[in-house]
Parts: sequence; structure tokens; C-alpha cells
Amino acid sequence: MAITNMNEKFAHELRDIYDAEHQFLEGMQLMLQNAADPKLQNMITTHIGQTQQQIRNLEQVFTLLGQEARRETCAGAKGILTEGQKVMKETSQVPAIRDCCIAGAADKVEHYEIATYRGLIQGAQLMNQPEILRLLQENLRQEEQTSQLIEQSSPQLLEKAANAQYMGGGNMNQVSAP
Ligand SMILES: [Fe+2]
Ligand SMILES: [Fe+2]
Repeated sequence: MAITNMNEKFAHELRDIYDAEHQFLEGMQLMLQNAADPKLQNMITTHIGQTQQQIRNLEQVFTLLGQEARRETCAGAKGILTEGQKVMKETSQVPAIRDCCIAGAADKVEHYEIATYRGLIQGAQLMNQPEILRLLQENLRQEEQTSQLIEQSSPQLLEKAANAQYMGGGNMNQVSAP
């Protein structure tokens, strides 16, 4: 459908992230099933709960716009998750390496969401919609915090993966974690 004004552009992006959040919710459930590190598991579990809230926030945004909450297939989300699923299969023999890949995939998800929410927030500012702005900012904050937590956990996950690789007799030199 042709988009000819900024309200339509906003609504399109809203339906897109509404779909992406649903896809990511499913994707994180799969990541949780495959994650071995307890901290990584906790992080994913917390963000699953936050994502459920984010979906409700988006439904409120639709209501404030007087629109029905509707999903429009987000190809970007699908691509990130397909890649994540593939690498989870490929690393299934070494859980510590798989954890690194899960963290990497999860961080890609967060960055996709961060970019999308920043764009939507600019749109809400343009429309002068303070309540919509507040709801979107709440979602953005959670994505930013989650991304930060993932990145903080990376050195430890990398160290575990490097050790697992060494024990497994891999032919790469053991890397030391920072
Ligand atoms: Fe989200
Ligand atoms: Fe997220």
C-alpha cells in the first residue's frame, strides 16, 4: 500500500515493530531453550517478560491512534532470527560457543529494535503525541538496557567459549578474555 503522509509512515512502522516484537518473543523462547549459561538464561527470561509488556504498550499506541493493532510482516526481524537459528544448529556441539552466538544474535535483535524505536519516537514527537512518546520511550529504554547487559556479559561468555574450544582440542589458539 502506498504511503503518502507521515501518519501513514508512522502506522506502517508501528505495524512492522508490532510484528517484529511477536517474532522476537518466539525467537527468544528458542534461544532460552538452547542457552546453557545461567546468566544468559536469566537475561533472556527477563527480556521475554519485558517484550510481553512492550507488545501491550504497542497495543496502547494503536488504541491512542484509534487504530486496530495489526501486524505487518517484518522481513528484517525474520532475517535476523533465521540467521540466529542457523548458527544455533551449527554450534550445537559446543554449548559455550553456542552461548556466544546466542548473545550475538540477541544483541542484533536489540539493535534492530533500538533503531526502529528511535525512528518511531521522532515520529511521535512530530505528531505531538506525549502519551505515545512515553510508551515508545519505555520500550526503547528496555531495549537499550538489554543490549548493554548482553554486551557486558560478552567477555565472560567469550572466555568460557575459548576454554571449551581448548578442551575440545580445537586447532585455534586459545584466546584470553579481556
Ligand atoms: Fe522489544
Ligand atoms: Fe528487545
